[in-house]
Amino acid sequence: MCPQYCISLADVRRAHSEIESLIHVTPILTSSILNQLAGRRLFFKCELFQKTGSFKIRGALNAIRSLTSDTSENGKKPKAVVTHSSGNHGQALSYAARLEGIPAYIVVPRTAPSCKKSAIRGYGATIVDCEPNDESRTAVAARIMQQTEGTMVHPNQAPAVMAGQGTIALEVLKQVPKMDALVVPVGGGGMISGIAVTVKALRPEVKVYAAEPLNADDCFQSKLKGKLTPNPSPPDTIADGVKSSIGPSTWPIIRDLVDEVFTVTEDEIKNATQLVWERMKLLIEPTAAVGVAAVLGKHFQKVGPNVQDVCVVLSGGNVDLTSLRWLEQPKHEEAQLPLN
Ligand SMILES: Cc1ncc(COP(=O)(O)O)c(C=O)c1O
Repeated sequence: MCPQYCISLADVRRAHSEIESLIHVTPILTSSILNQLAGRRLFFKCELFQKTGSFKIRGALNAIRSLTSDTSENGKKPKAVVTHSSGNHGQALSYAARLEGIPAYIVVPRTAPSCKKSAIRGYGATIVDCEPNDESRTAVAARIMQQTEGTMVHPNQAPAVMAGQGTIALEVLKQVPKMDALVVPVGGGGMISGIAVTVKALRPEVKVYAAEPLNADDCFQSKLKGKLTPNPSPPDTIADGVKSSIGPSTWPIIRDLVDEVFTVTEDEIKNATQLVWERMKLLIEPTAAVGVAAVLGKHFQKVGPNVQDVCVVLSGGNVDLTSLRWLEQPKHEEAQLPLN
């Protein structure tokens, strides 16, 4: 692999041997109705069934493992690990740190849903509140790192995290041997970078497509302009896992190895989420539906008929159920039934 990238296939293979015994090989499921709608054969990689409910555990475990082996030469584990993510990475890092007996501090906006905070606490990490903006998040994380002498594990730009996420591709290449393309939702780009490095090293003819909300289209814009172009302001999208922009570690890989970026509207994401819930009975989170929306969307029509077998990563299933409006509706019907 070219040296301009911060990870290589060898890193992904090493990550796989580090984490293999600690994660699930998630299944591939299919749906004839979704095949019909897409006009292609779709294969869904079900990372919603992964430990902690998303693929993020792969990168978090590999990062913790590489920290412990880096320091094992002088006989020390890191004193603590720190990150800023109220979402899936926060939960995954908490879980991975507890496995290694390392304290984890997760910096979370004080406005984050309480279910997310309790999941993080449930995995034994300490939550540190910050204000809901980037400056506060960075300042609080820096203070906590200083106070705890902790090490930052970035959710998507840390090479060990990216290599861990690449292990998805090692599994998929075995599970779907005839695959023509892989569709991956992109936020900071950690997952797609790990996957692209792996796929292009082992099966360069397989297309790697990114999917992202139109309201958070920094990856699309970056590819279009040929330079890293972060979202100008915090994006407004139901796909909360992909609000972050791609960054300096992931951009060179995305620039060179990702074949195309497909953007989808909020309605397309909602429809795809509901379709997967209803037809496949899989409780994916809306972020995981971004890839599904892409393969069903109009832009995907331009992908030729030679791309028949398409694998879509269903990246997570941590749905905030209280955010679903129908759950909040009072059950009036029962009260209004006639008595006889
Ligand atoms: C469910 C889910 N899918 C996709 C992503 C995007 O991953 P990345 O930031 O590595 O691009 C995330 C990130 O948090 C996520 O939680």
